[in-house]
Amino acid sequence: MPGTAGRPGVYLNDRVLLLEEAKVSVLDHGFLYGDGVYETMRVYDGVVFMMEEHLARLERSASLIELRLPKSAGRIKLAIFETLEACGQKDAYLRVTVSRGEGPIGLDPSLCPRPTFFIFADRLKHPPRSNYEEGIALAIVDTRRNLREALDPRIKSLNFLNNILAGIEARKMGANEALMLNNEGLAAEGTTSNVFFVMDGALCTPSPECGILEGITREVVLGLARRLDIKVVEGAFGTAEISGAGEVFITSTIAEVVPVRQVIQKTEGGASQSKKFPVGPVTKLLMAEYRKEVSSYVENTKAAGPSIWGFTE
Ligand code: PDD
Repeated sequence: MPGTAGRPGVYLNDRVLLLEEAKVSVLDHGFLYGDGVYETMRVYDGVVFMMEEHLARLERSASLIELRLPKSAGRIKLAIFETLEACGQKDAYLRVTVSRGEGPIGLDPSLCPRPTFFIFADRLKHPPRSNYEEGIALAIVDTRRNLREALDPRIKSLNFLNNILAGIEARKMGANEALMLNNEGLAAEGTTSNVFFVMDGALCTPSPECGILEGITREVVLGLARRLDIKVVEGAFGTAEISGAGEVFITSTIAEVVPVRQVIQKTEGGASQSKKFPVGPVTKLLMAEYRKEVSSYVENTKAAGPSIWGFTE
């Protein structure tokens, strides 16, 4: 839809709208209860990186909360492309949100006959270069990651308060991102990222059993490391292991691979201490390899032609 370029792309339920036209009911259970799921994707030169994987995770999140997506994967792809066209940005942030929908007050999902489906695409706001050149600060916060038995972190849900509270805590400690521990005091993940560290030449990251969202970027990075013959350990790690590591970095769809220059931790007395890290060789290698992987994905997707956008019911 030419003419709307430069504005965000907005798709609500079954059509593209202008942002100011897109309205959701105050009785939407996404608003009332955080009842819904979402995915964040990154668009590079018009190509949605790892779109199939993101859509598969959206489907899994939805099924874990017994929410039936209102569209097939093929229809969602078409809606994504319409939204991107309306937005007119080749390098974009893209979010697909599905809430339980509008219904009377009450927790019962059957009160909501139709899920609300919403896509938002906008120009990508690049994180500052210094994040990649010098690294960010990570704070080990007191807020624990949701128990798997309470609200499984595998579900990418609209119920994000756990992570919001951890983020508030991290910012108070002077950090850019939080490292949340699980209920056993083992490292889990960031508020919107997965965490990695390098120990004795091995690339270590908390395993899914520690209670994490299995990040798409995390999977790509693990695959790259294996291809590069870097030893990979998915396991259970305490804070001492992270502090004792040689390199630390985080990963996410929007930020990609981001080095950590400092890990801040509270001491017994409530003061904070920090440990500094270099932007080390493994981190640098994986940052570069990740970008190469994105470039070849974009190239291959374009070379395969429009047919791969074809929609299947
Ligand atoms: N966040 N862990 C959590 C809790 C997250 O919210 C995210 C992603 C990740 C990294 O996953 P991925 O590599 O698939 O982006 C890990 C997105 C970016 C968000 O919340 O918008």
